[in-house]
Amino acid sequence: MSESNSKPHEASLPENSGTPDSVLYVGIDLGTSRTSISASNGVRSTVASLVGYPKDIVSRKLLQKDVLFGTEALRNRLSVNLYRPLEKGVIKFSEEDGEGHEDEARNNLQAARHLIQHAVSLARSRPEQVIYGVIGCPAQASIKNKQAIIEAAREVLDSVVICSEPFSVAYGLDLLTDALVIDIGAGTVDLCRMKGAMPDDTDQITLTTAGDFLDHKLFSLFREKCSGSQFTLNMVREIKEKFSFVTQSSEPVKVTFPINGRPREFDVTDEIREGCKAIIPPMVDAIHRLIGSFDPEFQTKLRSNVLVAGGGSQIFGLGRALEESLEELGGGSVFTVEEPTYAGANGALKIAYDMPSETWEQLK
Ligand SMILES: Nc1ncnc2c1ncn2[C@@H]1O[C@H](COP(=O)(O)OP(=O)(O)OP(=O)(O)O)[C@@H](O)[C@H]1O
Ligand SMILES: [Mg+2]
Repeated sequence: MSESNSKPHEASLPENSGTPDSVLYVGIDLGTSRTSISASNGVRSTVASLVGYPKDIVSRKLLQKDVLFGTEALRNRLSVNLYRPLEKGVIKFSEEDGEGHEDEARNNLQAARHLIQHAVSLARSRPEQVIYGVIGCPAQASIKNKQAIIEAAREVLDSVVICSEPFSVAYGLDLLTDALVIDIGAGTVDLCRMKGAMPDDTDQITLTTAGDFLDHKLFSLFREKCSGSQFTLNMVREIKEKFSFVTQSSEPVKVTFPINGRPREFDVTDEIREGCKAIIPPMVDAIHRLIGSFDPEFQTKLRSNVLVAGGGSQIFGLGRALEESLEELGGGSVFTVEEPTYAGANGALKIAYDMPSETWEQLK
């Protein structure tokens, strides 16, 4: 299903006339579920944020590789130790991780490092080129996490800058002022108010009621509805990505799950609607907070320029549902980004282009 209310917000890449051939610029959207890269040589590539290491000598012999990425890692999950190194948008080792989690934290950090290296390798730089990169990460990622991302990226980039995910989306679409960008990812929903200057903490809100949260919510709703049947979280996510909607009416959604090995059909229309709707209230609350605390003279403009991005922006009817919530504040317009997969990476690339070369040199 696709949202009808979309504005032609095509990311326009800047003219590359002044770029020396000796430099490759890359923009990376380091996401919980997928990592995408856009490069100044025209390469665009995306990979599921999964890293797998062969479990033992047998799997090593079978796979003929030391590390696997994306769907290849998932496909071989029985032969590899599988890591999804980012959670809630950040590398899965946090200040709260106490003792006993050191190994896990180290492994996630290593997997994140390999994932960033892999993403950069997809850009196919030439050996003599220096690589300057901008990496988008959640608006409220901790200092420790940003530091870890920078350190991991330094191994493959000559210079690296971190920016907030919704900011890179907005920058790529030239929405530098009077706009509210909402990036609905797997781990986080990031909201960012664009005010014609660099956004600060008061302009950004990060929520964890995003795609992963939805998957768990739908999983428990399906448990009740389809009791006795067998299904996995991964199957629920696939169903969500195919049928998600929040409108009043819809075609019936029917799924087939086995019960004791026998396939059985269930109608999950109401569960999908109810589950998907669960991400709306926290988002509406955050929108109200960001609009309500903005300069009153600019609130109307902000309300009429709300842009929804990220994989979750594809939930059918979401834009309209958010518009309805804005009515309480005097009405507004919500638009959906055209290219959810690359909006963040394209924006990060544009920031990389626009940064003065002296700054890149200094950051080396
Ligand atoms: N059609 C769809 N309907 C609803 N959700 C979808 C759809 N397509 C993808 N998604 C969900 O969007 C999320 C992935 O979006 P995206 O690639 O923007 O996230 P990410 O950048 O990896 O995560 P984050 O920004 O939180 O780190 C997943 O939860 C995925 O299931
Ligand atoms: Mg994202």
